[in-house]
Amino acid sequence: MTIKAIVFDAYGTLYDVQSVARATEEAFPGSGDYITQVWRLKQLEYSWLRSVMGRYHDFRAVTRESLTYTLGTLGVEADPAVFDRIIDAYNMLSPYAEAERAVGHLSDYRLAILSNGSPDMLDALVRNSGFDRYLEAVISVDAKKTYKPDPRAYELIQERMGVRPEEVVFVSSNGFDVAGAKSFGFKVARIERVSPAALRQELASGASIGPATMFRALRMQTEALGYQPDAVIGSLLELPGIILSLSA
Ligand code: 2OP
Repeated sequence: MTIKAIVFDAYGTLYDVQSVARATEEAFPGSGDYITQVWRLKQLEYSWLRSVMGRYHDFRAVTRESLTYTLGTLGVEADPAVFDRIIDAYNMLSPYAEAERAVGHLSDYRLAILSNGSPDMLDALVRNSGFDRYLEAVISVDAKKTYKPDPRAYELIQERMGVRPEEVVFVSSNGFDVAGAKSFGFKVARIERVSPAALRQELASGASIGPATMFRALRMQTEALGYQPDAVIGSLLELPGIILSLSA
């Protein structure tokens, strides 16, 4: 089957959500790492809770609600300007080091993002990072008022791009997204930002387990849901070779 489109997840795949740590640490010195990890864990959890509850709020609202929760666990409140400054860090996330070069090498394919991000968040992020010049479409799940891994979110790729699931390689680092995309019917490449061996080494080090390690254990490994990716890569630069092997 010919592969026609490569569709990327945004947060954690092209863009490093850990880069908000600069803003969280500046606002709350000494608690930046804790806030960064609990915030991201809760942000995803709230997206799923709202989907299951049938109480959709867009991802900007979910991102605010989860930051409110996180600060609440510390018993602190940010004044509105500081709170907004932390939220705005999502518009300025750093792309992973190889991401732009890798996307630039894939010009033979139709390229897009499918993300939980709200349209305004994604537009700002893609424009600020200059990735808009490579992408045919930046698709937000907002059109369906639900979040990945709800299959209705993945349907947007065919609806917007006119490509069938088997003609798509979906690329994500997020275990839940990999499982959801594979279950939906895409070919899936998982970009492994934290290898199982690196995690095991971290857990075996004898140091007490901090929030970043918990995050890596809970969100940065392959889920045991029965939907394995077709390929696991250590760098997005491996994609051209992987796509050829998946096309065979
Ligand atoms: C995204 O949709 C799953 O957060 C990830 O970009």
